[in-house]
Amino acid sequence: MSLALRLQDVTFAYGHTPAVLRNVDLDVQRGEFVAIAGPNGGGKTTLVRLIVGLEHPTSGRIELSVDKVGYLPQRAQAGIDAPLTVRELVTAGRASRTRLIGPLGGADRQAVRDAIDRVGLTPQGDRRLSTLSGGQQQRAFIAKALAGDPELLVLDEPTTGVDVEAQEAIAALLQRLRSELAMTILYVSHEFGAVEQFVERIVLVRGEIVFDGPPSALPGVWHDPSHSHA
Ligand SMILES: Nc1ncnc2c1ncn2[C@@H]1O[C@H](COP(=O)(O)OP(=O)(O)OP(=O)(O)O)[C@@H](O)[C@H]1O
Ligand SMILES: [Mg+2]
Repeated sequence: MSLALRLQDVTFAYGHTPAVLRNVDLDVQRGEFVAIAGPNGGGKTTLVRLIVGLEHPTSGRIELSVDKVGYLPQRAQAGIDAPLTVRELVTAGRASRTRLIGPLGGADRQAVRDAIDRVGLTPQGDRRLSTLSGGQQQRAFIAKALAGDPELLVLDEPTTGVDVEAQEAIAALLQRLRSELAMTILYVSHEFGAVEQFVERIVLVRGEIVFDGPPSALPGVWHDPSHSHA
């Protein structure tokens, strides 16, 4: 096994307020799928923003041993007022990863097409985001996160506003990314129904990591007797 990321005793506070995350230790191996759960305000978004480098620990260390990170922020679609098409949005995701200036080459354009296809938005590729449904917009932002062929994919509440069918399509997509590309995936959600069958590790965040282990070891909350496990 090789390590994708390591957090060592990470504490973080926004300005001069009490820490919202305390003493976080977290190792994630390459190819792991880690479900991150916890209550509103528990610090899930803060944790993933630290991991992708948008915030910096007040104390402690974060090491990433991957170069390419794809990130879907929580409520990514909020505040999109630019008249972008799906293809333009996803192309921006590709360009920011390749650090290219100027037009993208053929391989880049193909990667953009693949990312759009993977989320099932090929028919909507030339539509403006503002004309899509909320769930379609969310899928467009997932495609943006995928467009740079990330080694680490961080999705903050990717299924918000997405119907059951599209959730299942996203789950199948994540399963493929994992098995075919050995992508490391961090998946923040309150709801793991769609991905439940392949979640092997869940990290519960409530100001600190209060649980880190297999779902079967999580008392009560996870196991719904109405769901059968194969
Ligand atoms: N920019 C900010 N400035 C100050 N405090 C913040 C900021 N962003 C988040 N917080 C606070 O940090 C704590 C953790 O917030 P965070 O967004 O990480 O939680 P979360 O687990 O993602 O919640 P949710 O389930 O609602 O998305 C909360 O108390 C929140 O109010
Ligand atoms: Mg959040």
